[in-house]
Amino acid sequence: MRTMALVVGGLSATALAVLLAVGGARGQAQHTKTAADSVTAPAISDTGALKGPRQPIFFRHDIHAGQFKMQCQYCHYSVAVSPEPGIPSMQTCMGCHLVVSGSDSAAKTEIKKVRQAWTDKKPVEWVRVHYLPRHAHFPHQRHIKALGPNACTTCHGDVSRMPQVFKVNNVDNMGFCITCHVERKVARDCSVCHY
Ligand code: HEC
Ligand code: HEC
Ligand code: HEC
Ligand code: HEC
Ligand code: HEC
Repeated sequence: MRTMALVVGGLSATALAVLLAVGGARGQAQHTKTAADSVTAPAISDTGALKGPRQPIFFRHDIHAGQFKMQCQYCHYSVAVSPEPGIPSMQTCMGCHLVVSGSDSAAKTEIKKVRQAWTDKKPVEWVRVHYLPRHAHFPHQRHIKALGPNACTTCHGDVSRMPQVFKVNNVDNMGFCITCHVERKVARDCSVCHY
């Protein structure tokens, strides 16, 4: 009891809410009719068929942001204040995964890798899905301020339904940038985006 209390004491409100939901949502999914707004992430047997680059750990946005409704900014913490959205540190993951070990063998295997990376103090080398060439720059914070905190889907598609992130919209193509800047009457001088 004492160790459990210590562990729980270190968790954020989000982490705690998610942990309380785990037993229910994951365990009863097959038996209970799901409410209209709730999403149960599907079991996936063939990861080779998924779109997007394969990651060193099978981290699923459809489980974290979809089924457990974690806010994007819980992990991409600097998206509204910096050009870079931020990729979460292992510490963010371990806030839950010290406790959550996975409900089936696929999840257990992948979560073991998360814990191993933490023990070895080796940050996971995620494969980038989007990136611009160095002569162009994209400030996330300006866009989130102008388009709102839920604008992620405008450029990235519905990531909360993606088991593995893939690129939609040619989001890192100049034509995509310009089309919206024209529509919104935003600056289009070359020097706005190019160094
Ligand atoms: C707020 C709590 C929370 C945080 C933070 C969190 N997770 Fe999870 N994670 C969960 C829950 C709940 C599950 C579902 C476990 C289950 O299957 O029972 C899960 C499942 C997983 C799985 C197994 C997925 C599968 O295939 O079923 C992996 C891998 C994983 N998380 C990695 C991560 C990584 C990496 C991070 C940090 C970037 C992270 N998690 C952050 C709660 C969290
Ligand atoms: C539990 C933490 C967590 C949450 C919540 C989360 N993400 Fe992520 N996200 C990650 C991690 C870790 C990666 C790197 C691995 C990968 O690409 O799956 C990532 C990668 C991405 C990428 C690909 C970045 C690139 O170009 O390489 C996008 C886009 C993204 N997230 C958008 C979102 C959006 C939109 C939401 C909310 C709907 C969200 N994320 C919620 C942890 C999280
Ligand atoms: C107007 C389009 C647009 C919007 C809106 C947008 N992004 Fe992005 N995002 C991009 C582009 C373009 C890149 C590639 C940037 C680069 O390479 O410098 C990117 C890259 C990323 C990355 C990868 C960064 C890295 O360091 O690996 C993450 C994570 C991400 N976005 C998350 C989000 C989240 C979360 C939101 C919503 C809160 C969001 N984005 C809203 C266009 C957008
Ligand atoms: C969905 C619409 C949309 C898309 C797509 C979009 N932008 Fe923007 N962008 C905006 C808006 C709106 C602003 C104005 C923000 C403000 O007023 O601060 C803006 C502002 C900017 C600024 C700052 C302009 C200044 O005056 O300093 C830069 C730089 C920029 N965008 C680059 C890009 C790049 C690069 C891309 C493509 C990778 C892109 N944008 C895609 C809507 C968009
Ligand atoms: C709203 C942002 C934005 C504006 C404004 C903009 N660009 Fe771009 N441009 C980009 C992005 C992002 C890329 C990289 C993706 C690509 O190659 O399509 C790019 C790529 C390019 C490339 C291709 C370079 C290569 O590697 O092949 C050239 C050339 C270019 N821009 C010239 C211009 C000129 C000239 C202007 C002014 C008339 C301009 N751009 C205005 C965002 C912008």
